[in-house]
Amino acid sequence: GSAVGGSAAAAAAAYIRQRVGTAWQTPVAGIVLGSGLGGLADRLEQPVRIPFSHVPGFPTATVAGHAGQLMVGTLASRPVVLLAGRFHMYEGHAAGLAAFPVRVLHALGAPVYIASNAAGGVRRTFTAGDLMLIADHMNLMFRNPLVGPTESGDERFPDMSDPYDPALRALMRDAATAVNVPLHEGVYCGLLGPTYETPAEVRMLERLGADAVGMSTVPEVIMARAIGMRAVAVSCITNKAAGLSHDKLSHQEVMDAGKAVASRFEGLITEFVRRV
Ligand code: 6GU
Repeated sequence: GSAVGGSAAAAAAAYIRQRVGTAWQTPVAGIVLGSGLGGLADRLEQPVRIPFSHVPGFPTATVAGHAGQLMVGTLASRPVVLLAGRFHMYEGHAAGLAAFPVRVLHALGAPVYIASNAAGGVRRTFTAGDLMLIADHMNLMFRNPLVGPTESGDERFPDMSDPYDPALRALMRDAATAVNVPLHEGVYCGLLGPTYETPAEVRMLERLGADAVGMSTVPEVIMARAIGMRAVAVSCITNKAAGLSHDKLSHQEVMDAGKAVASRFEGLITEFVRRV
């Protein structure tokens, strides 16, 4: 197996379980928090925090920004594992490393993977602060975490006809209704980045059928499907994509918009975890 394969994930999971000790409970879900959405971590009850740098197989912090944290605790009294931060391919990480945390969540026993991300709105009616349930994705990263020899337990040719689990999507819609959070649904397009798109690229994506565009989630969900985890994902629309508004795009704006929708996002995910 590789440094980002199933046995590496088993070693990371063993380390995490040992750090949590007797408080360990099998999680009902593993959750990755996107840019600006880290506030959900503060809602975690009885948290055990483990810096990414301590987790075997996780890369050491890059110069850009603080590394993330893995947290174990409960939401709505149900055990979860939460990752505040992820490994993006635009940082130079291979697709297999970007997807490695999903293997670790699976090795920890989580049957459900919940992804979240900050994304640009391509659908013209989307504005900053909208939440979008991902119905399907387009992999325009042109990389795939499953390239290479098949890891034991992985599917060689995973079916991708329902990458975002229909029953979990229905559960997310029900949770949104219950907590009175407006939730759109659409297609997420993953691009490598780190540049934002040009206006011509955004028009291309619109014609291809994308509703939102971002730089994550796709390798993670591919991995979830390959190892038999059910996936669900929510995009936080932090801005209109280039050419759809007169504003220039800045990472700061993306982070600020994330903070503005934080409480709706947190309420939605907490209610989902209660029901899953
Ligand atoms: Cl406009 N594009 C991409 N690729 N990622 C984003 C974004 C746009 N806004 C937030 N994240």
